[in-house]
Amino acid sequence: MPEHKMKGDELLSMLKSSVPAEKSSATDDEALHLSEEDMKWWQDAKLGLFVHWGVYSVIGRGEWAYYNEQIAPDSYRKNAEEDFHPSRPAQDITDSWLSLAKDAGMKYAVMVTRHHDGFAMWDSASSRDGFTSVKCGPKADYVRAFTDSCKSYGLHTGLYYSPMDWRFEGYFDPKEHPESALEMKEQAYSQLYELCSDYGRVEILWYDGGWLNHQGSDADAAWLWEPVKLNHMVKSLQPKIIVNPRSGYVGDFSCEEGAYPVTGKIRKAPWEKCMSVASSWGYIKDDYVYPGEYLIRQLVDTASRGGNLLLNISPDGEGNIPDAVKGSLGVLGEWVRQNGESIYGTRGGIWEPIDGVCGSTYRDDTVYLHILDAEKFKSVKLPTPKKRIVSSELLSGGRVDFKSDEDGVIFELPCGVTNDIVPDIIVKIQLG
Ligand code: GLC
Repeated sequence: MPEHKMKGDELLSMLKSSVPAEKSSATDDEALHLSEEDMKWWQDAKLGLFVHWGVYSVIGRGEWAYYNEQIAPDSYRKNAEEDFHPSRPAQDITDSWLSLAKDAGMKYAVMVTRHHDGFAMWDSASSRDGFTSVKCGPKADYVRAFTDSCKSYGLHTGLYYSPMDWRFEGYFDPKEHPESALEMKEQAYSQLYELCSDYGRVEILWYDGGWLNHQGSDADAAWLWEPVKLNHMVKSLQPKIIVNPRSGYVGDFSCEEGAYPVTGKIRKAPWEKCMSVASSWGYIKDDYVYPGEYLIRQLVDTASRGGNLLLNISPDGEGNIPDAVKGSLGVLGEWVRQNGESIYGTRGGIWEPIDGVCGSTYRDDTVYLHILDAEKFKSVKLPTPKKRIVSSELLSGGRVDFKSDEDGVIFELPCGVTNDIVPDIIVKIQLG
């Protein structure tokens, strides 16, 4: 099956999510900023799990089905009431996700608590028409189960929340329906209040959909959402929570969304690449699944540019993760078990990456040079490090010679070490 191709507003929503919010008094406030120390655990963590699961998983045509197919509200509610009945208890479902995440080397997890369709995956008192997983359908609080699973598996807890809600006409035309727009805004503030008060420590808040009518940017819709005020409320309840920029507030890190390759230079400020392991965020039967080797490459390319990688799973209506997705995450997990020291707790550098050829990560005086194309790397001369090279060896074992002069250093891989055997050849270099 070919990759799921987004069209129209769904595609637009993806493109706009990588546009950094412009700084203005409507989108930024110094008082909300976190310190470098507060961001450290997140930047060290490098790899996270994203989960899109809800009524749309039962329908099985992606998380935008309600909007793309113009499903009538009553019929969508029926899907929630009658079809969304996972047979396993909530805790078993979320435990199975978190256990998979742990094995794949993930350090944090972010679950969709309420997507643009308005269906809340917890007992939300402020949901319009009680459209929640406790009042209709499964009668279970999945946010509770998920946050408990994060604690028992030792992963940092993150919640995704969409302020906008397709059920409100005020979303589509706020000027024409101001009461409805205000009601939707009120729902967002109240639901975020619930999420930040009732589930213990929440460490990441992952907004999505700070816009209006799929038009313009998040910042353009700040007149309605007042994201600075919103995030003051959030941070008064969860002072160290790390937020992404998609509420319209500039946020603590920036996002790059989509499965396309990560390229270019090291990015200095905290950032995160997010992509789905299957091509759609929400479940589609027999969807295309990215191979484990591609996930490894994305992780290396992201880490060597200073970022984190957030990988999404799309469980089916029962909460089960498709086997092919498990397989790819298994390959990634095996790789990080052997090579994780070159990823966790590192920063991008000391050398700028060369797209498709090499990149590097470092921690203190240890540098990990990731060689993605040994053939092309033969002609690469890297700038001489400021400190002396004390040793250089393959992370998997074996000496690596190097020649250095005033205009650079060349590393010579032992013969027979090719990318056909090891897709990412890692040279561990000790400086001193
Ligand atoms: C997009 C889409 C959405 C998905 C999200 C994940 O903005 O609207 O369906 O949840 O990105 O990052």
